[in-house]
Amino acid sequence: MRIVVIGATGHVGGYLVPRLVEAGHEVIALSRGQHKVYREHGAWETVRRLVVDRSAEETAGTFGRRVRDLQPDAVVDMICFTLSSAQHLVEGLRGHVQHFLSCGTIWVHGHSVQVPTTEDQVRCPFGEYGVQKAQIEAYLLKEARLHGFPATVLHPGHIVGTGWAPLNPAGHFNPGVFVRLARGESLSLPNLGLETVHHVHADDVALAFAQALVRRNSAVGESFHVVSPAALTLRGYAEAVAGWFGKTASLSYLPWEQWRAATGEDEAAQTWDHIAHSPNCSIEKAHRLLGFRPCYSSLQAVYESVMWLIRHKVIEVA
Ligand SMILES: NC(=O)c1ccc[n+]([C@@H]2O[C@H](COP(=O)([O-])OP(=O)(O)OC[C@H]3O[C@@H](n4cnc5c(N)ncnc54)[C@H](OP(=O)(O)O)[C@@H]3O)[C@@H](O)[C@H]2O)c1
Repeated sequence: MRIVVIGATGHVGGYLVPRLVEAGHEVIALSRGQHKVYREHGAWETVRRLVVDRSAEETAGTFGRRVRDLQPDAVVDMICFTLSSAQHLVEGLRGHVQHFLSCGTIWVHGHSVQVPTTEDQVRCPFGEYGVQKAQIEAYLLKEARLHGFPATVLHPGHIVGTGWAPLNPAGHFNPGVFVRLARGESLSLPNLGLETVHHVHADDVALAFAQALVRRNSAVGESFHVVSPAALTLRGYAEAVAGWFGKTASLSYLPWEQWRAATGEDEAAQTWDHIAHSPNCSIEKAHRLLGFRPCYSSLQAVYESVMWLIRHKVIEVA
């Protein structure tokens, strides 16, 4: 197939595009060209790369037509964040693509109710990002089920890979937390450290997109969680990281307001967003319908990423 990937050079695209090329597809990669590909791979030699600013072209009303004119069999939209953005693209592609895959997020669920959360649970999103992604999901699935638009939505958890800092055991992105744990230094966690995070390796996200393309008949009109086989508690995550360095985690626990007061504003806001959601999602549906079997557990994915940070001297743990 000819597959257009919108937002192709990012964390997921760096794995997805080589996977699609290796599977024999012709890939057209769209991005603004502002960032290098996260992961170099020989497959990029055969990929047609187009410099396109989706936001600017949407404002001009030309983006949907631009993608349609590339005559794709399938389109992977990695960077849709608003309902109007999704609507514009669907109107441009209606009747012209065999499969349309959109990247969502497990934030469409808001807080968890019965865990592991399944895709059929009622959506209670909060925060602009999750609310918009839930609206996009609802719109695309309705278009698929009512009007035959061939949409699939894949919802990743916290994406991890080499080249950037993973979500850490304190629920934010400061890689200094890994340093503290590696050195056996004390770390305080909010509440009882029992709130959860749910990572996924970027290559497993890429795998899920590739599988959805293969299993089109099962995928169209459906949404799927794309996460590791099991979520982590902050406490268990911290203990495991310390153990990688032969240390026992020295953890203390503070009620949220005290923990927030002792933490930088940005980091506290990131942690709040993660623990307020405390995701714990099921991949049973993706396993059953797409044959999705992630290669990485959460800890394996984070381990690979942290070792990359050490090797590239982003963090110093000795
Ligand atoms: N990060 C997470 O933990 C997480 C969790 C759940 C879901 N998600 C979802 O994952 C998706 C993002 O995937 P990712 O992590 O692979 O993205 P990413 O690493 O942020 O990469 C974004 C890609 O889009 C391109 N891009 C950005 N703005 C653009 C524009 N206006 N026009 C054209 N291209 C543009 C970027 O290249 P240029 O900058 O060169 O244009 C790059 O190729 C989103 O839908 C997000 O909601 C992420």
